[in-house]
Amino acid sequence: MNDPSFLRLGVNVDHVATVRNARGGRHPDPVRAALLAAEAGADGITAHLREDRRHISDADIAQLMSDLKIPLNLEMAATEEMLSIALRHKPHAVCLVPEKRQERTTEGGLDVAAGHSYLAPFVRRLSESGSRVSMFIEPDERQLEAAKSLGAPVVELHTGAYCDALPGPDRERHLVRIQEAAKYAAKMGLECHAGHGLGYDTVGPIAAIPTLAELNIGHFLVGEAIFIGFRAAIQRMRISMDAARTSVAAQ
Ligand code: PXP
Repeated sequence: MNDPSFLRLGVNVDHVATVRNARGGRHPDPVRAALLAAEAGADGITAHLREDRRHISDADIAQLMSDLKIPLNLEMAATEEMLSIALRHKPHAVCLVPEKRQERTTEGGLDVAAGHSYLAPFVRRLSESGSRVSMFIEPDERQLEAAKSLGAPVVELHTGAYCDALPGPDRERHLVRIQEAAKYAAKMGLECHAGHGLGYDTVGPIAAIPTLAELNIGHFLVGEAIFIGFRAAIQRMRISMDAARTSVAAQ
């Protein structure tokens, strides 16, 4: 796993909690799903604690912190409430994301360039407490430069627009933006991740970007679990990622 060319898979378990919360009980348990994901080959678990607690709960985060043997990446908005939770748990990683109460999912990247002075103390305090901080941003040079100047060691590029675009020139244009941003991130010494909306049909070209170190994938895997099971969905995603990496390495 120390091989720099290895692409890690972070499995996001938010939507296991979405299904649980639809009935208000305990099943299906996102912590059980996270442990299963680790067995199936996930390199890390991602969970987004939202202000409205629509999926992952505070108790889920505490349980993930105590039960997981693989790293937890806590996604959170830059708010005082979330900061104090992160400082208490000290997860391996924290990804700062924008959050709007009305949105169905994280709609765009964090505007790091505009929010520089607001975000700076969050990056500093989280880093001082030992979490590896990343910023979820659009694949845009200005945002990359702002993230770098804040001292965050990692950026995660939003792949939502690429995944939503129809196959063809439009998707290709979004892919090129992500490829260029990943190259620029590496040039600036930032570790680069990507995620949002990825599925079997979109993961290949993203996994093939050699400077990406990690993909975070959730909704598709939880949906696919209905048809083939969570373990099989994760394993199939892993195979697609590895195949894409091997094909670039061979070129
Ligand atoms: N990365 C980040 C920063 C996210 O906010 C999300 C969604 O919570 C994901 C990755 C995973 O997206 P999806 O669930 O669409 O795979």
